[in-house]
Amino acid sequence: MSTASAPAQTVADLPPTDVLLELLGVSKEFPVRHEGRRATLSAVDDVHLQVREGTTLGIVGESGCGKSTLGRVIVGLHQETDGELLFADKQLKGRRTRSELQQMQMVFQDPASALNPRATVGESIAFPLRVLRLSPDEVDERVADVIAAVGLPAAYAGHYPHQLSGGQRQRVNIARALAVHPRLIVLDEAVSALDKSIQAQVLNLLTDLQEQYGLTYVFISHDLNVVEYVSDDVVVMYLGQVVERAPAAALYEQPLHPYTQLLLGSVPHLDPRLSRRDEPAPTHEADIPSPIDPPSGCRFRTRCPHAAEVCAQERPAAVTTGPDHVVACHLYTPGSPVPLGTPAVRAAS
Ligand SMILES: Nc1ncnc2c1ncn2[C@@H]1O[C@H](COP(=O)(O)OP(=O)(O)OP(=O)(O)O)[C@@H](O)[C@H]1O
Ligand code: SF4
Ligand SMILES: [Mg+2]
Repeated sequence: MSTASAPAQTVADLPPTDVLLELLGVSKEFPVRHEGRRATLSAVDDVHLQVREGTTLGIVGESGCGKSTLGRVIVGLHQETDGELLFADKQLKGRRTRSELQQMQMVFQDPASALNPRATVGESIAFPLRVLRLSPDEVDERVADVIAAVGLPAAYAGHYPHQLSGGQRQRVNIARALAVHPRLIVLDEAVSALDKSIQAQVLNLLTDLQEQYGLTYVFISHDLNVVEYVSDDVVVMYLGQVVERAPAAALYEQPLHPYTQLLLGSVPHLDPRLSRRDEPAPTHEADIPSPIDPPSGCRFRTRCPHAAEVCAQERPAAVTTGPDHVVACHLYTPGSPVPLGTPAVRAAS
């Protein structure tokens, strides 16, 4: 949850007809035990974002920043603690209906554990279709269709997971998500466990399926190169909060938030000539703080080289700095109390 003094975040408005999914101030807290006491872990805090139909929204951030929790809240596997979710202009409230669950699917990182080892590929794909009460003929037809759509031979319907490679198993998971005819798929580190060459094949498959079925993706990954490759828009998360959101090209070309700059400065680019390793990384590095007791004001302040007094006192409001480019940092607040001329401000000019 946000502190009472935190200004509400805003997002750059996209044409409403384009927006399939919208999150308005969504938070997710977990009750945990910490040092022998009950405590609250703020996994996702006051997230505002929009996903346009037929596009891919990438979500990046270090381990533990709340990417998977956010994905689970989106598809209804976790109930949000606060905030609103709108899907196709309809508010999602409480337990999801069967139709709402059907329209949003999730594909997870580990292709093996997501499949029942004792069920054949055909049975695994058919299971959610039977839950939807499709007739046996419709189930058979859908299973055959999606197995073909993900590029597997028809005979694989009778195979067991142990007979498949990692890439093939992930194709089966994608087929299973696809079979119920969703409009949106959350892909949580869906290619991270695969070898680079297999990764490329699965990414190309996802792109083809998106075109073919008009799918909308939320693509969660710690791999910035992969996110740049697949995303139309990108959200950067830090300790449960969105610190920057922008079209992918703008974000990678000109990252504004000091945390985004840190992330991009630390990743080798696919093209070594464009490696961003030579860019200065923030110097005040420390361990990532705990989401049980996050820093006051700006959660990134303990690692930010530009942190000023105000950063400990006030949560920075989200400021629109360009077309659909939103950043939450006091450096970009009009009349910024943070000294001008810092590297982050120069990067923005
Ligand atoms: N069910 C849960 N109960 C308590 N804490 C949880 C639960 N699920 C996640 N968390 C905590 O919420 C925070 C965010 O976790 P999450 O898995 O969403 O991060 P992530 O960005 O997906 O990390 P990774 O890149 O490692 O997958 C972490 O501190 C995690 O320990
Ligand atoms: S608000 Fe302050 S501490 Fe946070 S990223 Fe901006 S300059 Fe750094
Ligand atoms: Mg995760």
